[in-house]
Amino acid sequence: MKILITGSNGLLGQKLVYALADRDGVELIATARGENRVYKKDGYIFESLDLTDKDAVSKIISSHKPDCIIHTAAMTNVDACELDPAACELNNVEVVRYLINACLPFKSHFIHLSTDFVFDGEAGPYKETDAPNPQSIYAKSKLDSEKIVEDSALPWAVLRTIIIYGVVDDSQRSNVVLWTKNSLEQKKDINVITDQLRGPTLAEDLAEACIQTALRKAQGIYHISGKEVMPIIDIAYAVADFFNLDKAYIHPVSTAELKQPAKRPLKTGFILDKAVKDLGYKPHSLKEGLKIVADQLAGKS
Ligand SMILES: NC(=O)c1ccc[n+]([C@@H]2O[C@H](COP(=O)([O-])OP(=O)(O)OC[C@H]3O[C@@H](n4cnc5c(N)ncnc54)[C@H](OP(=O)(O)O)[C@@H]3O)[C@@H](O)[C@H]2O)c1
Repeated sequence: MKILITGSNGLLGQKLVYALADRDGVELIATARGENRVYKKDGYIFESLDLTDKDAVSKIISSHKPDCIIHTAAMTNVDACELDPAACELNNVEVVRYLINACLPFKSHFIHLSTDFVFDGEAGPYKETDAPNPQSIYAKSKLDSEKIVEDSALPWAVLRTIIIYGVVDDSQRSNVVLWTKNSLEQKKDINVITDQLRGPTLAEDLAEACIQTALRKAQGIYHISGKEVMPIIDIAYAVADFFNLDKAYIHPVSTAELKQPAKRPLKTGFILDKAVKDLGYKPHSLKEGLKIVADQLAGKS
């Protein structure tokens, strides 16, 4: 099976590269904007691809004719999307049209990544059939892109996920676990939200769900996250406990106090039954995930 992934420099994209590069029966084409920032360079083909270049998208898809696309790339900074809606529309919505049009001749299985933010956070945890009600430009862009995928003539799956954490090579971005750990180690004060609840997702678990979706040719919407739903501040406390760091630097703040540009849903979390049944999804607990993160950090140092 020929699998092409977008956003291979991102958190999920990198995990997919490591999981798929040397896998029997899979030919991997990893694509990312700019240079390849994944340390592992063998076992797959890398193509530099800015997805906003429609002709380049068409050229690369036509030359590789993938059986499956895992579209992880997106403008993921929620506040940046709120402040620049045109860039958000281009990177999160228009680009999906380019990819789908390019894939039509090859009937590629289109696996699209989306978010818990499509929900308003009034009634989490959510199942796949619950009604979305996006509250921000980013959230609306992801829901619009879901609709484009669903209305396409391709076989498709939409995997919605929640706060992804994990270790990456040469990351230009952080995530809740690394940010908390690094800040506390440097004795830096951090403000962490008390009244937003999430199901933190280990990047490796999400990558495996994407791979199972591809191998099983699963179609439809799937909710993929960690199995525990907790206030974001409890994720920070769990990191402090696990790495034996001083919690005094963690300062509780409410959503109202933080005044972020984009509105966030208060309580999300997912019901995972469909993914467990169809994809054999077995997420790690947060504690198990932190152990995996710690082992990987030890290996890299
Ligand atoms: N991270 C989360 O907590 C979270 C939560 C819910 C849903 N999701 C969804 O899950 C997916 C994967 O997230 P992630 O955490 O892996 O995101 P990430 O680490 O921010 O990676 C996203 C990647 O997309 C790339 N990208 C953006 N615009 C591009 C373009 N025009 N052409 C090519 N590449 C482009 C970025 O490239 P550069 O590195 O060059 O900037 C980046 O490497 C996304 O679709 C996101 O919306 C994420």
